[in-house]
Amino acid sequence: MKNLHLGCFDQVVEGWINTDVTPHIFVAKLPFAASALRILGKIDEHRYAQHRQKLFKNVRYLNVKKRFPFASERFDNAFSSHMLEHLYVDEAKICIREVHRILKRGGVFRISVPDLDSVVRSYEQADPDAFLTAMYESGESRDKNRHHWMYSERTLKELLIGTGFDKVYRCAYREGRCPDLIELDNRPEVSLFMEAIK
Ligand SMILES: C[S@@+](CC[C@H](N)C(=O)[O-])C[C@H]1O[C@@H](n2cnc3c(N)ncnc32)[C@H](O)[C@@H]1O
Repeated sequence: MKNLHLGCFDQVVEGWINTDVTPHIFVAKLPFAASALRILGKIDEHRYAQHRQKLFKNVRYLNVKKRFPFASERFDNAFSSHMLEHLYVDEAKICIREVHRILKRGGVFRISVPDLDSVVRSYEQADPDAFLTAMYESGESRDKNRHHWMYSERTLKELLIGTGFDKVYRCAYREGRCPDLIELDNRPEVSLFMEAIK
């Protein structure tokens, strides 16, 4: 396969190597683990149904903060949706450098993140918590589920160009050069969609 999907969680897309660090990858490997977690009330019916459908068996472990276990110039396309903002900036730089390395020349990296500009515009004095939730995912008790940085069109473009991508441009929802955008793109109302060409 020539397409790499990073931080996919349960958004498994055919024709892509779907990757994440979610513990559900390991739950899926252990017989009866999902049933046990359901009985203990640790996963809900929806997640249990996903395990019964063997969804997480199609997700491969890949930690984007480290060197990717792939040869250079192996992929045509890479994609990540609402994953980059969960990394600190130095970690995001490692991830983007690795994506640049594993893409062929002319390959596409499509990124979707919450749009910092529109989050800032949404601030209302009467309801600061809505802003804080959008900004930091502050309702999340686990640190890994919170946002560690946020991007505007300008800063994401600077980061991608600074990492060596040739051309970077903003896209509309489900529009762009990356294939399979009907299956890949989500959260149109809150997202900034960008593509970077190596
Ligand atoms: C908000 S979810 C987005 C899931 C999916 N891409 C979507 O658009 O619905 C963020 C995902 O990034 C993953 N993630 C966080 N840190 C990661 C890392 N270091 N390497 C790979 N995936 C990571 C999380 O496990 C989680 O599944």
